Amino acid sequence: MSRDGDIKTFSWHVPETVVTGPGSMKETGSLAQGMMRHPLVITGPHLFKAGIIAPVLDSLETAGLVYAVFHETESDPSIETVEKIRDMYEKHACDGLIAAGGGSVLDAAKAAAVLITQGGRLQDYEGAGKVSAFSLPMMAIPATAGTGSEVTPFAVISDHARQVKMTISSLHLIPQTVILDPDLLKGIPSGLAAATGMDALIHALEAFVSRYADFVSDAFAREALKKIGGSLERFVSTGDEKAAVDMLEGSFLAGCAFSLARLGLVHALSHPLSAHYGIPHGTANALLLPHIVRFNQKDAAEKYKEAAVLVGADEGTAFADWIADLNRCLSVEMKWTICQEDLPVLVRDALVSGNVQANPRLADKTEIETIYHCLI
Ligand SMILES: [Fe+2]
Repeated sequence: MSRDGDIKTFSWHVPETVVTGPGSMKETGSLAQGMMRHPLVITGPHLFKAGIIAPVLDSLETAGLVYAVFHETESDPSIETVEKIRDMYEKHACDGLIAAGGGSVLDAAKAAAVLITQGGRLQDYEGAGKVSAFSLPMMAIPATAGTGSEVTPFAVISDHARQVKMTISSLHLIPQTVILDPDLLKGIPSGLAAATGMDALIHALEAFVSRYADFVSDAFAREALKKIGGSLERFVSTGDEKAAVDMLEGSFLAGCAFSLARLGLVHALSHPLSAHYGIPHGTANALLLPHIVRFNQKDAAEKYKEAAVLVGADEGTAFADWIADLNRCLSVEMKWTICQEDLPVLVRDALVSGNVQANPRLADKTEIETIYHCLI
């Protein structure tokens, strides 16, 4: 006889193939051969113009694949950009997507896959469980470490008309093949490395303390915290290859962790900040984190204690203070003015996020407003 509460069911979904290591993007062509014949490569303007993704394109040519390139994906991609990707895919009669870029590029590609296979308006798929099963081959090659978008079932797209970032969530959005190549991270500006690296760290930490955490998500989160904690500062200051590999793998593992356990109050509160003030996602997260760790401290004391050891935080310094120091060390600073009169709208938008429920301490309207107030 079972006892209520003792039985838990969970399942996890990850990419089928992961290729990692320096130079691995040169494998794109041979990996794509079995999946597609006319890929649409999706990337951003800088990666394309600076020739950073040239090895990807060369390998497709060598493999005899005829491809088209969409290279106009902006940061925090809009619905309009996703529609342009769909139009280009249809115009060139493509049969698969290869997304090579940061989280914005990967999210735009995942959202485009929805429009290509299901039609309609992107807004119709906002939320969870609205995307039907589809077969559209997708490869993801992250150029930041990162959002973990290469492994997660989420795509975040900006809806400028409503001034919100909307999330589409479906297991069908997980790319089948992922390439983690540190060569793509060479020369990444330190500000971007810091913001995206803090985002990855926060994915692991929020998943670790989540109310939905289980022993599988914890295993992913622990390894992610160790890899990211051991390499973030070195990656930002020197960009060295070993640190870049650890950051990419840590970011991937953090993505696995939060796909299972969700995120928390940091992400719930950061999306409205990005939507209203244009604060980059990782930066908004990093600035919120010390305040939210303080807010959660009592309810997640044991997990924070373990996380502090895993990331190599200074013993004897409160974890939240160590994080604030890390932000300073990585030059993550508040350069935006948060207005008191915007707080009701920010709070309203934060409360819509499902991540509020995953946070170890449930926050109400007034508490969320108090946390935002710390940034003024
Ligand atoms: Fe994030």
